[in-house]
Amino acid sequence: MSAPKIAIVYYSTYGTNHAVAEEAARAAREAGAEVRVLRIPETAPQSVVETQDAWKAHLEATSDVPNATPDDMSWADGYFFAFPTRFGSAPSQVRAFIDTLGGVWSQGGLANKTVTASTSAGNTHGGQEGTLLTFYPTVMHWGAIIVAPGFTDESIGAAGGNPYGYSATPGAFDEKGKAAVAHQAKRLVEVTAKLNG
Ligand SMILES: Cc1cc2nc3c(=O)[nH]c(=O)nc-3n(C[C@H](O)[C@H](O)[C@H](O)COP(=O)(O)O)c2cc1C
Repeated sequence: MSAPKIAIVYYSTYGTNHAVAEEAARAAREAGAEVRVLRIPETAPQSVVETQDAWKAHLEATSDVPNATPDDMSWADGYFFAFPTRFGSAPSQVRAFIDTLGGVWSQGGLANKTVTASTSAGNTHGGQEGTLLTFYPTVMHWGAIIVAPGFTDESIGAAGGNPYGYSATPGAFDEKGKAAVAHQAKRLVEVTAKLNG
């Protein structure tokens, strides 16, 4: 059996979800996957990005990360998404990327892929669950297979207890959070290996 191919597809304005993506990639590789870490491209005008030093700095610091493409989505057997909440749903940058996938989707290229997702929010109850629960129906349209973490490991509860996917708080992505992300990524790899075995 060849190694499961996992795409870690993230969008991050200030760095939190980039850090989550890096931890998910580390854990997925450790679990035996072939991994690509892919950035969902920024769509905000440069003039807006430049109004915030932290936004501009993070974009520049990650300029070497390859952009996610429809070909990457075809390549992968499974996807780990990471993106922040925007008023309780996925950022428009994520939706813009999703909207480039019509071609690969119409050819069945997203069917039977495994998917798990994580998010982040500035507030404890700032929309984490809504963000994930409004994202997963999109992947149901693909015929993908959702691999939610549930409460399959004690790390989930220790990191805040979101069974839909790990939820980070900016500036507080700590060891407990890393353990929950690692478990979620490892579980994705294991389920993907079983399906493709
Ligand atoms: C336009 C906008 C909308 C946001 N909406 C919310 C929100 O509804 N609730 C919340 O808790 N945080 C909200 N935030 C905070 C982001 O979720 C936070 O900046 C993000 O989780 C940080 O992730 P990052 O470092 O990967 O960019 C919002 C931020 C922006 C810029």
